[in-house]
Amino acid sequence: MNILLTGGTGYIGSHTAVVLAEAGHRVVLYDNLCNSDVGVVQRLGQIMGSPPALVQGDMRDGALLAQTLRVHAVGAVIHFAGLKAVGESLVQPLAYYDNNVVGTLRLLQAMQETGVRTLVFSSSATVYGEPRYLPIDEAHPTGATNPYGRSKLHIEQMLADLAASDGGWKIACLRYFNPVGAHESGLIGEDPRGVPNNLMPYVAQVAIGRRQRLSVFGDDYPTPDGTGVRDYIHVMDLALGHLAALDYLGALSGWHAFNLGTGQGHSVLEMVRAFEAVSGRPVPYQVVSRRPGDVASCYASADKAHQLLGWQARRSLTEMCLSSWRWQQNCENTPS
Ligand code: NAD
Ligand code: UFG
Repeated sequence: MNILLTGGTGYIGSHTAVVLAEAGHRVVLYDNLCNSDVGVVQRLGQIMGSPPALVQGDMRDGALLAQTLRVHAVGAVIHFAGLKAVGESLVQPLAYYDNNVVGTLRLLQAMQETGVRTLVFSSSATVYGEPRYLPIDEAHPTGATNPYGRSKLHIEQMLADLAASDGGWKIACLRYFNPVGAHESGLIGEDPRGVPNNLMPYVAQVAIGRRQRLSVFGDDYPTPDGTGVRDYIHVMDLALGHLAALDYLGALSGWHAFNLGTGQGHSVLEMVRAFEAVSGRPVPYQVVSRRPGDVASCYASADKAHQLLGWQARRSLTEMCLSSWRWQQNCENTPS
């Protein structure tokens, strides 16, 4: 099948492109490159044998989206494109609603116009807000705590309304927990612009010497070592979850939500130690005050994805750190 990946040159989209190509699909990437580099396409070509098609365009350009869906005879869309920095969303909420919500609306209109009605959407564990119980299953109440999270929630609701209005739509919302790691080749991975917001890229940059030390945001949480606990999932396992969701939608219509996580929580200090062990480099840190909006612990129940999609995360914490370290070393040698 021909599959359009919006945000396809980004971190998760590029890894999913590899998995889909390996499964025999033809991928077309659609991206405005606001948070990724065009060099990803050539590096994907090294992994996949030939570079995928890239359409450089914005999600809010409905005409270009419709044209792309037609020209490439697209059968399904995986929608990764979006802005994703929680802090930035508090400062620029309208940019987040415009890019994420309006961008998705334009995509849905273009899909409706061209008769493409299979969609996998990149949602987030952030739609659960403050965890009321752990592990978080899909029945957990939703309620986001910042504009980024609310943009995801609005989109999920829009997708549910659309599926309810017309039984031809097949929609899966995949609620990612904390994606980390990189493709085993070390050719693609996550290389955030500026200061990383997320733990793993920060740790990797400290290990390589690009940054002096990690700030650990609080060690007084009610967790085993006092630092925050999250469900880190290898990006290649996450990518495989998209393939499983597409297969599932082949047989079923309607709107479906799935958690993609490992079901295991790891603390910040556990992550630091695991990274030090695989890299052989020290990761100096200092404990600072809590980051506003952070919760103590957040991890998934991934039972629904296991039961209905036949999908399970398999890669270990060591593999997450090793692949991330390999990518960080390559990144340092060949900056994009
Ligand atoms: P990313 O920034 O690496 O990739 C997103 C891509 O979308 C980028 O290449 C960017 O250039 C593109 N893009 C953004 N706005 C666009 C627009 N208006 N038009 C066209 N292209 C546009 O992010 P990622 O980590 O790969 O995340 C992919 C998706 O997964 C996002 O929707 C994000 O919210 C979601 N998600 C990510 C995480 C995470 O921790 N990485 C967690 C949960 C959910
Ligand atoms: N942390 C630090 N120092 C850092 C960065 C993070 O101590 O420099 C800690 C955080 O306090 C937290 C843990 O590391 O305890 C993980 O933080 P991340 O920023 O990597 O991830 P979050 O769980 O806070 O957020 C991520 C995505 C959000 C998404 C959320 C839920 O970044 O977009 O998961 O899916 F909403």
